[in-house]
Amino acid sequence: MNTTIFDFIGDHAGEWKVTSMIALKGEPIESVSHIQKISSSLVPSKKGIWTLKGIVSNLRYTEKEDKDNLVAIQEDLGRSEATLAAFIPIRKSEAWWNLAQDERRKIMENKSQHTQIGMKYLPAIARKLFHSRDIGEPFDFLTWFEYAPADAAAFEELLETLRKTEEWSYVDREIDIRLVRI
Ligand code: HEM
Repeated sequence: MNTTIFDFIGDHAGEWKVTSMIALKGEPIESVSHIQKISSSLVPSKKGIWTLKGIVSNLRYTEKEDKDNLVAIQEDLGRSEATLAAFIPIRKSEAWWNLAQDERRKIMENKSQHTQIGMKYLPAIARKLFHSRDIGEPFDFLTWFEYAPADAAAFEELLETLRKTEEWSYVDREIDIRLVRI
């Protein structure tokens, strides 16, 4: 099984049932009732109503101390009590991609404190980042989060905080899809 390339298939059936789907910024995507996440390959595949492809990649901006802390605290996906999920495809603007690596890191970590904010919500929120930009996909990132119902309010607070940061002013397309495990 390929453990780095995944297809997220929006369809009429699947392991995760959609409870809400909101285009927060930019063009919406077609409504679906279920999402299935499957191990895949780079071969273009059009399954279900839509398919979004993402790759688990190396870290770009995280320095050793943060990396060690993350590895020590974070939980994996697939915990039985984590029955809720969020699938949030995100695209950043050309202005973001025109910045140099060190400028992007400054905005994410020094000014927006992305990791520091996020760390407060571990291990309750399990997360996985998939990269899509380099394979010609419509989004740059596919983000996936899993949590127990008791942590749903904390997850909302995390999103509210991150979306007010300078980093988010570079987000030009964001679809917020919420799910419950069947
Ligand atoms: C990237 C941590 C929540 C969206 C990152 C990175 C870290 C991180 C360490 C940098 C990866 C690298 O070095 O390349 C966390 C933690 C969270 C959290 C601990 C707590 C649950 C979120 C949420 C969202 C999000 C709620 C969006 C809805 C992203 C995106 C990137 C990213 C899009 C890639 C940014 C880029 O490369 O430009 N996150 N994050 N994260 N995170 Fe989060």
